[in-house]
Amino acid sequence: MCGIFGYLNYNTQVDSSEVVQRLLTGLRRLEYRGYDSAGVAFDTTRHEDDDEDLVVVVKECGNIDRLSARVERTMRERGEEIDFKAVKQTGHCAIAHTRWATHGVPSEVNSHPQLARSQGSGLVEWCVVHNGIITNYRPLKDFLSSRGLLFESDTDTEVIPKLCKYVWDGYDDAQRGEVNFREVVSQVVGELEGAFALLFKSTHFPGELVGCKRGSPLLLGIRQRGGGDDDGASPGAAEVHEGNGVCLSPRGGVGAGGRDHSEHHGGGACEFYFSSDASAIVEHTKRVVVMEDGDVVHVSGGGYSVYAAPQQRQHGLGGAPFGAHHKISRQLETLEIGVEQIMKGGYDHFMQKEIHEQPSALVETMRGRIALEVEDCSEGDGSECTLERQGSLKLLDSLDLLKEDGGGAEPLWRGATPRVKLGGLEPHAENILRSRRLIFVACGTSYHACLAARQVVEELTRVPVALELASDLLDRQAPLYRDDTCFFVSQSGETADTLNALQYAKRRGSLCVGITNTVGSSISRETACGVHVNAGVEIGVASTKAYTCQILVIVMIALKLSEDSISKGKRRNEIMRDLLRLPSMMRRVLREEGVIKNLARELAQETSLLAFGRGYNYATALELALKVKELSYMHSEGILAGELKHGPLALIDETMPAVVVATNDALREKMWSTIQQLLARKGRLVLLVSKGDDDILNYFNGEENDGRARIITVDTVCDCLQPILNIVPFQLLSYHLTVLRGFNVDQPRNLAKSVTVE
Ligand code: F6R
Repeated sequence: MCGIFGYLNYNTQVDSSEVVQRLLTGLRRLEYRGYDSAGVAFDTTRHEDDDEDLVVVVKECGNIDRLSARVERTMRERGEEIDFKAVKQTGHCAIAHTRWATHGVPSEVNSHPQLARSQGSGLVEWCVVHNGIITNYRPLKDFLSSRGLLFESDTDTEVIPKLCKYVWDGYDDAQRGEVNFREVVSQVVGELEGAFALLFKSTHFPGELVGCKRGSPLLLGIRQRGGGDDDGASPGAAEVHEGNGVCLSPRGGVGAGGRDHSEHHGGGACEFYFSSDASAIVEHTKRVVVMEDGDVVHVSGGGYSVYAAPQQRQHGLGGAPFGAHHKISRQLETLEIGVEQIMKGGYDHFMQKEIHEQPSALVETMRGRIALEVEDCSEGDGSECTLERQGSLKLLDSLDLLKEDGGGAEPLWRGATPRVKLGGLEPHAENILRSRRLIFVACGTSYHACLAARQVVEELTRVPVALELASDLLDRQAPLYRDDTCFFVSQSGETADTLNALQYAKRRGSLCVGITNTVGSSISRETACGVHVNAGVEIGVASTKAYTCQILVIVMIALKLSEDSISKGKRRNEIMRDLLRLPSMMRRVLREEGVIKNLARELAQETSLLAFGRGYNYATALELALKVKELSYMHSEGILAGELKHGPLALIDETMPAVVVATNDALREKMWSTIQQLLARKGRLVLLVSKGDDDILNYFNGEENDGRARIITVDTVCDCLQPILNIVPFQLLSYHLTVLRGFNVDQPRNLAKSVTVE
């Protein structure tokens, strides 16, 4: 849902085109957040006397490649080399945006940066890029229009630069000499309602950027040039201090540019990167300030300062005092993701890469969380006794978990009790178990993950489990109580519906637990406790590895919560043993990609596809249908097999492809009768069955029924883990269908990765 990026560099030796390249590369990394249109604003080489814009603004519909071509064309037309050395007094300071349209169609004029120009000359004064939504933009627009400000776009964002102009124009000369950029921005954001991450650039404050956030994510990355900070690890000669505004130059000089140096130190040692997420920062630096809601970050004079919002809005448009935000200190954090995570590797698409990463993503999700506790030294080959003597739990590492046929961990089991360790959850486990209800709240694929794991949570905890689509929970204003525990499940941790539901649950006093795949995300920060999914960065818009790892995490939570239940001991051990076999089984499913690709070829021209599942695999049917429709634009419906006779059967004939998930579990017989009913209506079947299910395999291999069904087989694993394997052939199917139909796999139309508006 829109990506914003900002770059500020005080090193005048940096080549000019490098600056533009940084912007475009930053946008490419963020493109998955929105790809309707994009834009950049950077300093021009012209001198003020030329009576031309000091800021070049280039916007273009479509993707970043189109924007890149447009930037080149624009500079050629201007007859201008992009030479930032000419503005060395103020540093290189630029902002950029990639858009997912919410207010106003995708068009050049609605793209960001949104601007405010001076009334007489029409020169650019204020530039703003925005991720989020301004809910009170209508009254603001009316107010500003009534004061003579002219609007060009249909966006909610445009009120922001216009507000800047209104506030600035309201100052007299003496005030303009006093006020700094951050104070102007503080006054403006004090008027905004809604969710936003914003970056501001202004010709009134050359060489400075201000970023702020409320409800949408924003990071500030700090890289020390020449200070050995390329890997973000060693401070080297230059030092970045935690907290405020210090980026000391090895030369110790005072930074050039900026009007107010009083809060800053430093010279040309640092580069600053603002970004909606870490993927656009990590290749430059791993040192970041993760901004909190209400923060305003001001970069100027070679340093940065962080200010926190006042508790309440303190001033109105009538010209109130500046700077109600107060200066605070924010910890510098180190990003844990690696650069390789944001690259495609040898794959054609991020989605394909992410599907194939699932065995290792499962390992990462379990790493350090599965432990063997040795109770009886008299059994086994004695190796465990050493562990006991050390008085420690044996935490399984990646090597244990990655053994071919993960049952390879089997010898480790003898004489040991498997345990799940979830540090974030442990202090709250008792409270959770005492809850009246466990309520899982999510959207889209994350909701399907909750659905897939619901049964095992109910079974192991014996606490009633409810599922809620976040938007529906809010629409109904559903009753939540102090003795409910709500789990908020989200890959991004930023989904507005889920986040709003979280605020709603907090207001009602429920215990709120986060399950997210993004460290430092809003949901992980706003919840009382939680579990990080650890699937690794997911860039393809359609969620794949996050889905399977979310199911795994919820199963692990159920195991954790039930560890004191003697009656559930046997079942828990069975699940735990199979957890360790999952990665190698997943690898075997992935080896069948050729079979799935052939199936995709057979189905590529269809207009519709139905998918049936029940029990644990109702979620598989829904998730399959979602993947197929969102990527290949083929109509697809996931149907609870138990509902077949209550309507959907009418759709079945010899042309309609019907996928049936009929792997081995307690409902296998019922699924067999679903297959029979579909066959009776001449259904065109695609079956997912367990390897070794000879009844089904022989039936369809027999002469009479040969060719009546396409069959995919998978290994059998413990029923509650089966959905983790079962979805993989269908992720591959939707991937290949999409490639064959000629659509963009990683960027399906009208969608965005992180949906930060309701
Ligand atoms: C579909 C998909 C979406 C997301 C949904 C919630 O492939 O990815 O349905 O699952 O938008 O997003 P998160 O999990 O980030 O809250």
